[in-house]
Amino acid sequence: MCGIVGAVAHRLVTPVLLEGLKRLEYRGYDSAGIAVLDSTNQLARARAKGKVRGLEEVMQTTPLNGRVGIAHTRWATHGVPSLENAHPHICRDTVAVVHNGIIENHETLRAEQKRKGHNFSSETDTEVIVHEIHDKMTDGGLDLLAAVQATVSILEGAYALGVISTEEPGRLVTARKGSPLVIGVGEREHFIASDIFALLGETQRFIFLEEGDVADMRADSITIYDEDGNKVERPISETKLAADSAEKGSYRHYMEKEIYEQPQAISNTLEGRIINEKVVDESFGPDASAAFDLVKRVQIVACGTSFHAGMVAKYWLESIANLPCDIEVASEYRYRPHIVSEGTLFVTISQSGETADTLAALKEAKNMGYAHTLAICNVPESSIVRESEWALMTRAGPEIGVASTKAFTTQLVALLLLVVALGRRNGLKAEKEAQITRQLINLPAEIEQVLELDQEIKQWAKCFGDKHHALYLGRGEQYPVAMEGALKLKEISYIHAEAYPAGELKHGPLALIDEEMPVVAVAPNNELLEKLKSNLQEVQARGGQLFVFADANAPLDAAPGVKILRVAETDEVVAPIVYTIPLQLLSYHAALIKGTDVDQPRNLAKSVTVE
Ligand code: AGP
Repeated sequence: MCGIVGAVAHRLVTPVLLEGLKRLEYRGYDSAGIAVLDSTNQLARARAKGKVRGLEEVMQTTPLNGRVGIAHTRWATHGVPSLENAHPHICRDTVAVVHNGIIENHETLRAEQKRKGHNFSSETDTEVIVHEIHDKMTDGGLDLLAAVQATVSILEGAYALGVISTEEPGRLVTARKGSPLVIGVGEREHFIASDIFALLGETQRFIFLEEGDVADMRADSITIYDEDGNKVERPISETKLAADSAEKGSYRHYMEKEIYEQPQAISNTLEGRIINEKVVDESFGPDASAAFDLVKRVQIVACGTSFHAGMVAKYWLESIANLPCDIEVASEYRYRPHIVSEGTLFVTISQSGETADTLAALKEAKNMGYAHTLAICNVPESSIVRESEWALMTRAGPEIGVASTKAFTTQLVALLLLVVALGRRNGLKAEKEAQITRQLINLPAEIEQVLELDQEIKQWAKCFGDKHHALYLGRGEQYPVAMEGALKLKEISYIHAEAYPAGELKHGPLALIDEEMPVVAVAPNNELLEKLKSNLQEVQARGGQLFVFADANAPLDAAPGVKILRVAETDEVVAPIVYTIPLQLLSYHAALIKGTDVDQPRNLAKSVTVE
């Protein structure tokens, strides 16, 4: 979580740091701060509780200027969101540090440092890092680089660090292990950031540090050392992403923009992956084709929205590909023993590719006897992609809104490609493959049609503005779609929402039904529709208010307490993708009515890089 940015240049870097923080704010917005070495080589620091705009206001009254600096936007883990806990942390006015990650042995280090006479000004785990570096420089006589190297060697946990010191102006030292960090390579100026989007306004050239790397950066040079202290070369990659690729344009919120980008994002995900109505095996990796022949089972691990995508994939794998599939949330998977059957493909799903639980589960899985690992991911340079044997990129483009939208639908598209590729080896007929691939190619146009329901959904959302709870119902593969709809509503509108497979209602949740509990149902015209209708009647009979998204041809009628919105007729296989769209719009409009911070809902962050 937390975003870090840093710069060392021959020009003043505060504008670069502030812009970087704004672009990283999706990673956390509990506080923000900047430290620079000023014209007299003293550390100057500004911090503010809350968002980056608060920091900007502080800096209007107390401007900071310097040619080397570090900055941070926080998602609180250790210690409440407060000014004292805001980074950068400073030791004895000589060393400043920004940190993303969690230091697990911070209590031991803190106790030792207190014995040595350090006073702590924050509750953070980070503060031990700055005191340790300081002591290794002053007592140990080490230079800044050696002090950082010595410090990270005793840290347990995850870190991405930016460090500067008054003792060595013109030097920025950075290190990473378990948390993301990139180096931006400029012309006689260099940068660090938690992701490349923070720096796209400055450079298109990036170095991705390996686990345990430490880099010694000056405006004119970068020297990288591996975990053992050996000098190493890391390649420079050039991105084609434009500086404005993560901007909002004319939309009110990133979430709105990202909802509307879904037709294009899905086209991008499909591009080159279907030829002559067949899924191209090589999309998954050069050697995937032969290996897929031997896959007998699939294990999926993911978190949050990505987990919901995996749940849909389980239905698809078992019904279309005839392959057994297990799915588990990563935070549970990683902490229990598993029996791995021969020929099991291990699949992680992650928008960011940095989710700590998913990454840790993948690392565990690599030693557990799985046949292969595949990542379905949106960020090519991410840790999960780098740890996986194969990766299928979702190509959704940057997703900035904390609530995942286009990442989810492109994950579903990518997963359906996988299902078809595996299914072909398990009895899926060529005609069925052709039918599914045609449905996929047609999807962007279908979604454009569903997006036209926006104004009607906006009207519906008015019924949710004063509610505290909502129920979401679906059956079969629409159950995870209902779960995703409920997650979206609670995440951005703070309305408590739960999803149930509709047949489960009578086993308990029916007791909750009254006119204060809106019930949202997804009702495509499939073989479970009649069953779903009975479940909906149970709600109606008890005075519940039903909001049903139904297929154009579904035999359902509006009635008192039953509102129906017709979603264009769609094919059954892709229906989970199509029905996701109105649920996203409903939560977006409900959040607008509630006046919440849609893109940065309270207590959350986009990329969950802590356990
Ligand atoms: C969804 O709206 C959330 N932002 C969250 O559940 C998210 O999907 C989850 O944290 C997993 O993230 P990932 O896809 O980047 O791994």
